Amino acid sequence: MDRIAITGGAPLQGEIAIGGAKNACLALMPAALLTDQPLTLTNAPRLADIATMRQLLESLGCEIAALQHGRALAISAARIASRTAHYDIVRKMRASILVLGPLLAREGAAVVSLPGGCAIGARPVDLHLSGLEKMGATLELREGYVHAQAQGGLRGAEIAFPFVSVGATENLLMAATLARGTTRLRNAACEPEIVDLARCLRAMGAQIVGEGTPEIEVQGVAALHGATHAVIADRIELGTYMLAPAIAGGEVELIGGGRALVGALCDLLEAADVSVEDTPRGLKVRRRNGIVRAMRVETAPYPGFPTDLQAQIMALLTQAEGESVISERIFENRFMHVPELARMGAEIAVHGGAATVRGPAALRGAPVMASDLRASAGLILAALAARGETVISRVYHLDRGYERVEEKLSAVGARIERLREPAR
Ligand code: EPZ
Repeated sequence: MDRIAITGGAPLQGEIAIGGAKNACLALMPAALLTDQPLTLTNAPRLADIATMRQLLESLGCEIAALQHGRALAISAARIASRTAHYDIVRKMRASILVLGPLLAREGAAVVSLPGGCAIGARPVDLHLSGLEKMGATLELREGYVHAQAQGGLRGAEIAFPFVSVGATENLLMAATLARGTTRLRNAACEPEIVDLARCLRAMGAQIVGEGTPEIEVQGVAALHGATHAVIADRIELGTYMLAPAIAGGEVELIGGGRALVGALCDLLEAADVSVEDTPRGLKVRRRNGIVRAMRVETAPYPGFPTDLQAQIMALLTQAEGESVISERIFENRFMHVPELARMGAEIAVHGGAATVRGPAALRGAPVMASDLRASAGLILAALAARGETVISRVYHLDRGYERVEEKLSAVGARIERLREPAR
């Protein structure tokens, strides 16, 4: 397994290009199942999770061509050869559940393995399933698989989510495009990835209004057609790299994506005395002289502070003057990076869903282990501020969601390299 070695202390200077959003692309790819015509996604990120979704769609009979060196994916579901999403693939990536809605809507039947729990929490999919039931599907759970049937097709329904779920909103939004009648999703997720999905579906002929608000209305149509759609910028990659100069010092311009994608982070950084400037090409972040101020952070659905940036902001707060409190409201077990940060000298106490961070801590390089994708990003950021060398193992987590992290950071002056495991 590859590792990443970082020697901290170098201020950063230069620019970093932000890629297409992993989590948008993971929802857009299954949308191709809704039509027998090709869907072409441009600005696709080249990531392990995207390769996994590709493998899943191919197992269902999709033909996928990677164009522009993998930056564009042309997906054709002209013929659906299988309606079963097998455990082998689903267990690798929970977003696999997003094929359920489209398969059921197009084929009237689907068999999808239930994803298990994962490092950050139990992550059930009950909202996906109950929503599909409201749309007329009958579901049966057998041997770890959901067997879903909608003979005669899905029908429109009123679905009020008890709490916000990005994935359930996406699954039901896709299913509703081909359902008979009108579907109303209340308390829907408002994340930019939902807006991107709705725009793509509309380009494919779907009738959707209200995306980006808590109430989305979909008028089902008989068929969708092909389209070409550019994936939005990855707001979590953007936020992660915005935090790099905030932690290491210096000034970095992030190319692609803007303030609207990371408004909550911009507000926090500015309150902590880090400068964020809009530029024609993106955002420029500069750590002003002196020390960052402590703050309170609470994760929440968009437009709140994203849980996917919680580990990264914690890395910054180890360097802030005073006591910061981070409350994790989305996932129950998303503080696995805390003991690793502690190995580097951070002072963090976790009480239930909140972490108290006392700073500034003099971080020192140490061998640490990544527990999930965003935890890995938090460790990389902390390592940029640490004295000496940090070696992060299990970086396959990182490769799921960050493209060429070592190249992007070394281009702005970070001392970072990938230690490749020798081929056996
Ligand atoms: C998406 O996951 C993202 N993944 C996650 O990013 C992100 O952390 C999360 O949204 C929250 O923003 C993708 O888009 C592929 P949810 P998702 O349904 O859709 C509970 C990353 O690092 N819940 O909004 O699975 C759930 O357990 C990843 O890139 C139910 O109880 O998240 C969680 O506590 C990690 N029942 C909360 O709701 C359900 O049926 C929000 O989850 C569905 C969700």
